[in-house]
Amino acid sequence: MPTIAVGSDHAAIAMRQAIATHLAARGIDVIEVGPGVGEKSDYPDQAHLVASAVVRHEADLGILCCGTGIGMSIAANKVAGIRAALVHDPVTARLAAQHNAANVLCLGGRLLAEDYANELVDHWLDTAFEARHQGRLDKIAALESSGA
Ligand code: RB5
Repeated sequence: MPTIAVGSDHAAIAMRQAIATHLAARGIDVIEVGPGVGEKSDYPDQAHLVASAVVRHEADLGILCCGTGIGMSIAANKVAGIRAALVHDPVTARLAAQHNAANVLCLGGRLLAEDYANELVDHWLDTAFEARHQGRLDKIAALESSGA
């Protein structure tokens, strides 16, 4: 049974909750982090929690939602080993898995309807990585230790 960590800031609470419900309905174990309704939070805090859960193997994958998904993707990609992809449509959701082996999916809670976000989550989860792209992932990993 896979485990997925799902986080949001205050701008995407409804999306986070909808995704957590959707994942549970798929039989996926969910770790949910983020503020409650009426609370504020800073997206780097949830990005850190979710990214850390993934690289420590407490979760197999992560999903992060903020207003645009931009801040979450920038923050999560600061954590070594994270390949966070901001997606907006089925094509980018599938390619994030197929080409990039994205281990964190980022979504914009102020841009997408919750049902549509769940469709994008399904596209990402149901698409396999193509091994011919592995060399590029290795080059990304090398950037993490290049210091430049
Ligand atoms: C919060 O107002 C907003 O800046 C945040 O949710 C996100 O969109 C940042 O990228």
